[in-house]
Amino acid sequence: MNITKDIIYVGVNDHTIDLFEGQYTVPNGMAYNSYVIIDEKIAVMDSVDARFTDEWLNNIENVLRGRKPDYLIVQHMEPDHSANITSFAESYPDAKIVSSAKAFAMMKNFFSTDFVERQIIVGEGDTLSLGKHNLTFITAPMVHWPEVIVTYDTTDKVLFSADGFGKFGALDTDEDWACEARRYYIGIVGKYGAQVQALLKKAAALDIQTICPLHGPVLTENLGYYINLYDIWSSYGVESDGVVIAYTSVYGNTKKAVMLLAEKLRLSGCPKVVVNDLARCDMAEAVEDAFRYGKLVLATTTYNADIFPFMREFIHHLTERNFQSRTVAFIENGSWAPTATKVMKEHLSKCKNLSFAETEVKIMSALNSESEKQLTALSDELCK
Ligand code: FEO
Repeated sequence: MNITKDIIYVGVNDHTIDLFEGQYTVPNGMAYNSYVIIDEKIAVMDSVDARFTDEWLNNIENVLRGRKPDYLIVQHMEPDHSANITSFAESYPDAKIVSSAKAFAMMKNFFSTDFVERQIIVGEGDTLSLGKHNLTFITAPMVHWPEVIVTYDTTDKVLFSADGFGKFGALDTDEDWACEARRYYIGIVGKYGAQVQALLKKAAALDIQTICPLHGPVLTENLGYYINLYDIWSSYGVESDGVVIAYTSVYGNTKKAVMLLAEKLRLSGCPKVVVNDLARCDMAEAVEDAFRYGKLVLATTTYNADIFPFMREFIHHLTERNFQSRTVAFIENGSWAPTATKVMKEHLSKCKNLSFAETEVKIMSALNSESEKQLTALSDELCK
């Protein structure tokens, strides 16, 4: 697949993976992208996951038609991209490895060698000429590891964006970009909004016509759409109006309250109501929803003087990703000493710019007229 006349795709699709990064379900698989830039000198951009050594090396060989690569440019050392650096180095012993100083330190840890005889260390603004194509390296620390660099081809106006603008899903499946890009971004890079903002600022100074990420499709049109979403996500802005209700329910009474609240919100004209049962839904989808919408309702039971485990895990996913700038409301249930709202507020106490809804719903085992009134008041408050 040609991206431009000289840039060719040599990545692979993975339909056998069970959990990406050991935790994310990927129903449509995963793509590990790699590219070759053919010029007087030849550069290969990143390697692929360990399980695709032969396929990747064959892809490279097929597009080079007897020529040999001069450089392997390593933008990111996470093993989904770095696992085949050694197999490349063995296949092409004359090729140089181009990467950041931090990446070479990681290579030593991963592979017991940092290719000292063959390494070219690059940093912010360094350039590499392949002939016609001039590459400029831009540091992108914590997007998504500290060693990351992205690469701008000034000739074809292509940004090789490492994990940035990536998504779950193999390239031979047809699915909406935003849904799986958002779940990927929030799950994997969400904590590092400030660092993504810094990279977006650097990217804004470039004339970019194509974005070549390490996962997901190459982006060639309407780049403003993707960049705008990345700007919203990395600044923790509200992407869509609506209310997300995340809940756990042991015997169905908390669920009943949640369903009643959802109905009241819909009847009041709330633009979108999303309900996630944290014990049964994909946790990464629920986390993604919390970051997407402006208002979040947390409903859970008091449990072992704490809160129900799935809710604790959910809140932990939020706080470790710098969840902020949202309205949060609480529904607690407890049969003798309900303290879930207090505990949830404590768990959220380090989050910036949260405003807690005035109305709190307290259920003592099952809904009654008092708690139903509180649900009506909460619906009114959230729909104001
Ligand atoms: Fe796709 Fe952070 O590796």
